[in-house]
Amino acid sequence: SIDISTLTRQTGLTTIDYGFVNTSATKSAITYIDGDQGILRYRGYPIEELAKNSTYLEVAWLLLYGELPTADELGEFDEKIRRHTLLHEDLKRFFSSLPHTAHPMSVLSSATAALSTYYEHQSDPANPEHVELNTIRMLAKLPVIAAYAHKKSIGQAFLYPDNSLSFVDNFLKLNFGVLSEVYEIDPVMSRALERLLILHEDHEQNASTSTVRLVGSTGANQFSSISAGINALYGPLHGGANEAVLAMLARIRDSGESVQRFVERVKNKEDGVKLMGFGHRVYKNYDPRAKLVKESADEVLEALGVSDPLLDLAKQLEEIALEDDYFKERRLYPNVDFYTGVIYKAMGFPTRMFTVLFAIGRLPGWLAHWREMQQDPQTKIGRPQQLYIGAPHRAYPGAE
Ligand code: ACO
Repeated sequence: SIDISTLTRQTGLTTIDYGFVNTSATKSAITYIDGDQGILRYRGYPIEELAKNSTYLEVAWLLLYGELPTADELGEFDEKIRRHTLLHEDLKRFFSSLPHTAHPMSVLSSATAALSTYYEHQSDPANPEHVELNTIRMLAKLPVIAAYAHKKSIGQAFLYPDNSLSFVDNFLKLNFGVLSEVYEIDPVMSRALERLLILHEDHEQNASTSTVRLVGSTGANQFSSISAGINALYGPLHGGANEAVLAMLARIRDSGESVQRFVERVKNKEDGVKLMGFGHRVYKNYDPRAKLVKESADEVLEALGVSDPLLDLAKQLEEIALEDDYFKERRLYPNVDFYTGVIYKAMGFPTRMFTVLFAIGRLPGWLAHWREMQQDPQTKIGRPQQLYIGAPHRAYPGAE
């Protein structure tokens, strides 16, 4: 038998696939997507059922270990995570070295990379105990870092985690609680955030997960690999789209431009303007996550007593786009980012936190993929080929 890299070298044959639209880099048993049918399943379970019936940590366990946890397994997992929420006090000072204008995504990725410095002695990817411990550490500490990135951006004091609370309630308190005041958990907000986080937990080989895998394939530890994934998620074509959608809606509202006129500008590709939150590499039918988010948007806003004209604007945009041949021919539908921002905004998160919330949602998926890759005996360092199109050999001026 001859391996593929030898065959490529010997024959000179290679494929060029911009954006990897037709290249599988791995086998995976975690998430199934049928983009034509609009189907998404984690470990075989439909996303609709998980979003309705599960918690974030239950789904994280499912992604990591392949099965839904028993009550005891979930209790033990939850307890371990609660015991690891504290950040080293020195790491808290790291935040003060960054400007208050820093984007919370940059704060999250750099603090995640910095976390690695505290655990380098226990970060051997080949040691299952280290891998397990760092999985727990990341699930426990990244939400705290995310909340501190938020607090820093609004100039408020950091709170210590309250480990008597559930994962999501603790996260809400860290974000919205204020020192010396009692923070009342709003059950509507808590359940809505839990649902949104579940919808983001995994999405197979998207750009950020592929980044985590590529970095991990070099033998880099979980902290470094996931910090790289957070940076990949930051871009407006990926997770950054949720922030970009809100900015787009606000711009349309403030400019007084009609929705129809904006859609015309998108179709004419004027100044490269896109309908943010629309289109997906894999879904060529309605993104099932977007369907669920849209369903909860009205419900959540009403329960929170918020009315937001941006939600109506988003619905108008969707209605016009779905009837338009440009979008129909290209099979462009709302993706998960189209309606999430309106809900995050109603909860009180600033726009710049939206992609951070996506990152906390996606964390279990990144960890599950990193672990799956480490356990796969066929894993190799990721190293794409290229077609060289530069100058042939040239004589260096003055050389013999
Ligand atoms: N608005 C207007 N036109 C679009 C949009 C959009 N949102 N998305 C795609 N198109 C057009 C392209 O211009 C292209 O048209 P053409 O054939 O006339 O050149 C055609 O549809 C195909 O689009 P591609 O860019 O080739 O599709 P690709 O699969 O590479 O990109 C992507 C997918 C990046 C998501 C794209 O649809 C996009 O930029 N959407 C807006 C950003 C966004 O919402 N990103 C979030 C994605 S979901 C996620 O990461 C969580």
